[in-house]
Amino acid sequence: MGRLDGRVAIVTGAGGGIGREHALLLGREGAAVVVDDIGTRTGADAEAVAAQIRDAGGAAVATTASATWDGAAEIVGTAVDAFGRVDIVVNNATAGRNDDLWDYSREEWDLTMEVNLTGYYALMREAVPHMARQGGGAIVNTSSASGFGHPSHGAYAAAKEGLIGLTRTAAMELGRFGIRTNAIRPVALTVQVAEYHEHSARWRRLMDLTMGTGTTQMDPDAVSPAKVAPFVVWLCTDAAAGVNGCTFAVWGDKVSLLAEPRPKATIEQAGGWTLDDLDRVAPDELVPGLRNRWTLADNPDLQEFPDA
Ligand SMILES: NC(=O)c1ccc[n+]([C@@H]2O[C@H](COP(=O)([O-])OP(=O)(O)OC[C@H]3O[C@@H](n4cnc5c(N)ncnc54)[C@H](O)[C@@H]3O)[C@@H](O)[C@H]2O)c1
Repeated sequence: MGRLDGRVAIVTGAGGGIGREHALLLGREGAAVVVDDIGTRTGADAEAVAAQIRDAGGAAVATTASATWDGAAEIVGTAVDAFGRVDIVVNNATAGRNDDLWDYSREEWDLTMEVNLTGYYALMREAVPHMARQGGGAIVNTSSASGFGHPSHGAYAAAKEGLIGLTRTAAMELGRFGIRTNAIRPVALTVQVAEYHEHSARWRRLMDLTMGTGTTQMDPDAVSPAKVAPFVVWLCTDAAAGVNGCTFAVWGDKVSLLAEPRPKATIEQAGGWTLDDLDRVAPDELVPGLRNRWTLADNPDLQEFPDA
């Protein structure tokens, strides 16, 4: 008996990397799996992953439909045609370019938003009517610690942090239909990370400063993609029935429930604030001791603005 017998799961970007591990474990736990990947990553092969699930005695079909606004209906249609329902959506696909903020082209920005945010929403939009009529479902959105702030990843950081707002809102809107929506910020040594390190070695110290995790010194065995899958699959089981609208960091052997933003310091004055009042009060009572940490003096790895 698997924990997910009778359930139907969709995993995007599941032809390789972390998504492949989600698909394989969902299959081992008894879910019928739609393995989606357009195969932009070298070696990403949705059909090979689906075949591996079937060879192990599970049920799976592959699709190469794009996990974007235009492909979402086809992906959900594949699940309904093959297995008659949709219970689980693991939004995991990623694509896009990394660049300095002043360098993105419109196409690079749009691709990153499309695959990391708009496509995630589109798949939820297509799957939710099925889940609601069936009486429930589970959605896991794959965000990133990049959302905390990640130099040279501006578009990606924006998309992944936008996803956190979408996840919180979906939890509030869909909870009454028995649909739970949560987000993870994973870390795993995959092609994406290897490319990043190659692309932007100069940002490594800054990554450690923003994330505070030492993720740039990753030991491949300690942060393998397979270490992310168990928690994601657990979120999709009935054991996680009370978990809705939460964000988790999944880092190697660690899983952390992340705190939600709350006011850290507040000033209040009847009738509101003038600039003179703010000059007088804010430095000591609202932002005591704050200084710009992101200067060249503090961060010798940062480069001057490029010459024209
Ligand atoms: N690896 C990490 O440390 C890390 C850190 C933070 C967040 N994440 C997130 O975790 C998820 C998985 O990351 P990964 O490292 O396995 O990435 P990956 O690049 O190895 O895999 C992503 C997969 O998505 C597929 N894909 C790209 N565009 C697609 C589209 N339009 N439709 C369907 N599939 C598409 C690619 O072919 C690829 O197989 C991503 O959402 C990523 O942003 C990963």
